[in-house]
Amino acid sequence: MVTGKRSAIEEKVLEEIRPTQAERDHVCGIAKKLLAAIADTGKAQGMVVGSIARHTWVRGDRDLDVFMLFDPGMTREELEAEGLGLARKIAATFTDRYHEKYAEHPYISAHIDDVDVDLVPCFAVESAARIQSAVDRTPFHTRYITDKINGLVDDVLLLKRFTKSGGIYGSDQMTEGFSGYLCELLTLHYGGFIPLLKAASEWKPQMVIDPENHTAKEFPEPLVMIDPVDPRRNVAAAVSLDRMVAFVELARGYLEAPSDHFFSLPETHTISRDELAGLLADRGTRLFAITFPTPPYIEEVIVPQLKRSVIAIAEHLERNGFVVHHAHYTMRPDRCIFLFELLVAELPKIKTHIGPPVWNRVNAEKFREKHIVSTLPGPYINNGHYEMEVYREFTQAKDLIASDALLQVSLGKHVRQALEKGWQVDEGPDCWQKEFEPFIAAFFRRGSPLIRVRRKILDL
Ligand code: UTP
Ligand code: MN
Repeated sequence: MVTGKRSAIEEKVLEEIRPTQAERDHVCGIAKKLLAAIADTGKAQGMVVGSIARHTWVRGDRDLDVFMLFDPGMTREELEAEGLGLARKIAATFTDRYHEKYAEHPYISAHIDDVDVDLVPCFAVESAARIQSAVDRTPFHTRYITDKINGLVDDVLLLKRFTKSGGIYGSDQMTEGFSGYLCELLTLHYGGFIPLLKAASEWKPQMVIDPENHTAKEFPEPLVMIDPVDPRRNVAAAVSLDRMVAFVELARGYLEAPSDHFFSLPETHTISRDELAGLLADRGTRLFAITFPTPPYIEEVIVPQLKRSVIAIAEHLERNGFVVHHAHYTMRPDRCIFLFELLVAELPKIKTHIGPPVWNRVNAEKFREKHIVSTLPGPYINNGHYEMEVYREFTQAKDLIASDALLQVSLGKHVRQALEKGWQVDEGPDCWQKEFEPFIAAFFRRGSPLIRVRRKILDL
């Protein structure tokens, strides 16, 4: 059992992940110069936010979030135009490596001396209740955490590394996990890394944590952390049920048998084309891939559509009699892939078609007369209904996947637009493509985060 004292494992991890003094000086030096440059404009007030402001960044993760707070009397359009212009001007005085990015509203992302700097214009609102967009809330987070985090910084670092190791750090759509701010709040609320793990070992879905006791509504998500600066926001809204219970699983696993493997970064796996062929032969399943160009929009827009599409296509396959064992998607800068492993990919020509109940006179008579000329058995009566055999539209899953009928399922706007220009269908070992190799390898290596850690510990 782990006790309240920092264990040797944790001390060793901390030595690896605490930013060095040189890194601190370097990053803080850039931050200071940026703040001065912003102040010099006389138009906005600069503020360092995020993990750099709170000293809760993990060594080497150098993303510097600098906010530019503007007069809330401006309109949103003025802020977008003037704020972005000013951010661009400031970035340009430090580097020529910068470009515009878009979250809830546009900002400038710059690369200054090996540090990724985000320059984000926002409104300097008086209270978090008056925010006009999500970014206006961020300065309040920083003030809240900086006030309270003293003495718990190492605990936050451990938690960030612990969740990153488990593949559940990050609130992006792909990860559906724990954001940095959520890690900080959890550490604060439970008073440290180990107390948090002890509490999390008993979490069940619909767990609500409300540090300021001010919740203002009900939240549907499995894990709820009421934002201390905004009673109407769930900081853990991005955390999916599976990521939440993965954390529960890891917490129990670590408390029962601590190991530095709980803090090692997840490895990417490889699989060769031949290995894939061997694997498929051994499993006796049929693999299909749909590949298409990545729609030119931000990840937060596209990933939910990919998720929906892969489910919709799997349902489309199932409706047509093919049995889907496992389906998944991934997005790369240039191309996206959907992968389907089927138990059945080839079907006989006929299938049963169920008609109306015979007591439903009008429909029943229509059905019977419509199918009076049929070379296949039926219409016959079964369970009170007319039923008949018909030829199925697709006897090969591959034909279905290649057919335009795919565009009829609910794909999401941008994915549909991309597919309308065509898509590539591959089968079996041909699904193997270099750029998707780690994804394909992971597809066939499913295992919970704790299973992965335990296997590393036992050297399996
Ligand atoms: P970051 O994603 O950079 O997180 O967002 P971070 O806290 O700095 O953590 P790391 O160490 O870089 O990974 C910067 C700030 O934006 C707000 C938070 O206040 C966060 O600290 N934010 C970000 C949210 O409120 N929610 C999010 O999902 C993401
Ligand atoms: Mn950050």
